[in-house]
Amino acid sequence: MNEKINFYNSLELTLSEAEIIFSSAVDDSKSLFHTPTLSTFENKKISTRTVVLREFNREKRYLRFHTDSRSNKINQINDESTSTVHGYDPDLKIQIRLNGQTTIHQNDEISRNAWDQSREMSKMCYSVSNSPGKEILAPEEYDIVKEQIEIESGYKNFAVIIFKFDYLEFLFLKGAGHRRSSFDWSNGDLISNWLIP
Ligand SMILES: Cc1cc2nc3c(=O)[nH]c(=O)nc-3n(C[C@H](O)[C@H](O)[C@H](O)COP(=O)(O)O)c2cc1C
Repeated sequence: MNEKINFYNSLELTLSEAEIIFSSAVDDSKSLFHTPTLSTFENKKISTRTVVLREFNREKRYLRFHTDSRSNKINQINDESTSTVHGYDPDLKIQIRLNGQTTIHQNDEISRNAWDQSREMSKMCYSVSNSPGKEILAPEEYDIVKEQIEIESGYKNFAVIIFKFDYLEFLFLKGAGHRRSSFDWSNGDLISNWLIP
């Protein structure tokens, strides 16, 4: 992609590049933006984890992730919605940072649609018998055996995280000519700026 870097000196094309990266990362499991990190607050501490990108909506500026409704991040997000998403691909030499707000969806139309679109393999992990993060003595007791579970019953533990961003920062590394830019929608209209890298 970087053989012909059309976005190098254009803010407009830089934003388009970021949108293309996230759009294509949804189905491209080899893209490092397919598994970005999502950071949330746990009181005054920061909690960061890898999540799989399930959807990127350019117009509404959100990313969709799936998770277990019993996981620690649910309470964190319910207490404080301010979150960030970060990704870096060393082949592309591009880092993208997003600031925004997360919301949880469970037992609603959004979670139902997301569940119905999920593959069996993805659904299986929601049948684990206890909360993710719980301390246990023997990990093998919690291995999921397909023949022993009712896959659809995992829906009760399934949650969707919608991360809506209002700030995107793009960093492209290129020798002495790095390019860093910001795209800010927090006051309504988009304000784009070059930044010193
Ligand atoms: C490659 C990879 C993909 C992952 N995808 C997800 C995911 O889509 N959703 C999720 O909740 N956790 C995912 N995890 C696990 C999280 O990183 C994390 O360990 C887990 O969600 C517990 O986080 P929490 O205690 O902060 O809730 C993934 C981990 C890796 C390494």
